[in-house]
Amino acid sequence: KVYRASTTAPVNIAVVKYWGKRDAKLNLPTNSSLSVTLSQDDLRTLTTAACSATFDGDSLTLNGEASDISGARTQACFRELRARRTAVEAANPALPKLSTLPLKIVSENNFPTAAGLASSAAGFAALVRAIANLYELPESPADLSLIARQGSGSACRSLFGGYVAWRMGSQDDGLDSKAELVAEASHWPQMRALILVVNAAKKDVPSTSGMQQTVATSGLFQQRITQVVPANMTLMEEAVRDKDFAKFAEVTMRDSNSFHACCADTYPPIFYMNDASRAAIRAVEAINAQAGKTVAAYTYDAGPNSVIYFLEEDTATVVGAFHEVLGALGGWKDGAAALKSNAKI
Ligand code: DP6
Repeated sequence: KVYRASTTAPVNIAVVKYWGKRDAKLNLPTNSSLSVTLSQDDLRTLTTAACSATFDGDSLTLNGEASDISGARTQACFRELRARRTAVEAANPALPKLSTLPLKIVSENNFPTAAGLASSAAGFAALVRAIANLYELPESPADLSLIARQGSGSACRSLFGGYVAWRMGSQDDGLDSKAELVAEASHWPQMRALILVVNAAKKDVPSTSGMQQTVATSGLFQQRITQVVPANMTLMEEAVRDKDFAKFAEVTMRDSNSFHACCADTYPPIFYMNDASRAAIRAVEAINAQAGKTVAAYTYDAGPNSVIYFLEEDTATVVGAFHEVLGALGGWKDGAAALKSNAKI
């Protein structure tokens, strides 16, 4: 007999960035963060979890290719989920002992890996929720976020849709370091994202090691985690609550700049943005100046691709402007540069 359950999880892009761990094993962050989740029609991971005595050990397939599951992060997720299923089985002896069966996980993204999006977030969130569904666990999304966090920090924010905060917490055991819904997507349904993909995606410093180097060597980073981020979290939650796009945009752009300044202050320095990224920043400034108000906001993760947030009413202004200037900006994939020109939130 094969037991099976499927689920999807959305991609999230942080507008107040997670960068830095205070505990690398439990994936506990040095600061809280806040993200906007992209609509699952546009970008998501679809995962099926199955278990059966007929399977030959645990396995994970990602986009059709066998994936290594021996890593500590994947193992931590499997272990935590099995422990919770074991507790359920102990309380209900009539239930099948699924916790003892090998797991087969099959995962697929509906966006190209070449997009350079942090797919680990949607990936681990979908993995955790699929197994939780298979095991019929009673845990809430916030409870499951504690497990997804151990797979990849940013994954804990992909267990909800809409606007999501990851509260850093203060406990050593990490039990208060979890995600929380700030607002449903329907609270601010006009929000859109334009994802610009740089042509030559060269290998960057992976975020896990990059942030460790920043924590160890950057002085600027201390100011970021003690002052900049706490202030940005407050301002961002106000901006979302009040649907104040100008405020949302300024905090988003400042926080991205602060994060990349800390990368540049890392020794040796880490550069995720390139000339094309910087040209897109100037283009956003030009679009806003031309419009006479803030209609677009850029943000960059651990790579050169841009995510541009804007409101639906400004689609023609923002997307139109980028279609016109992308060729001239250089380094951007022409025409099809916009992976999703108006991805819903
Ligand atoms: C720049 O979540 O990929 O995208 O916890 O080591 O897996 P690990 O790191 P990861 O880092 C994401 C960093 C970021 C900012 C963010 O998503 O908040």
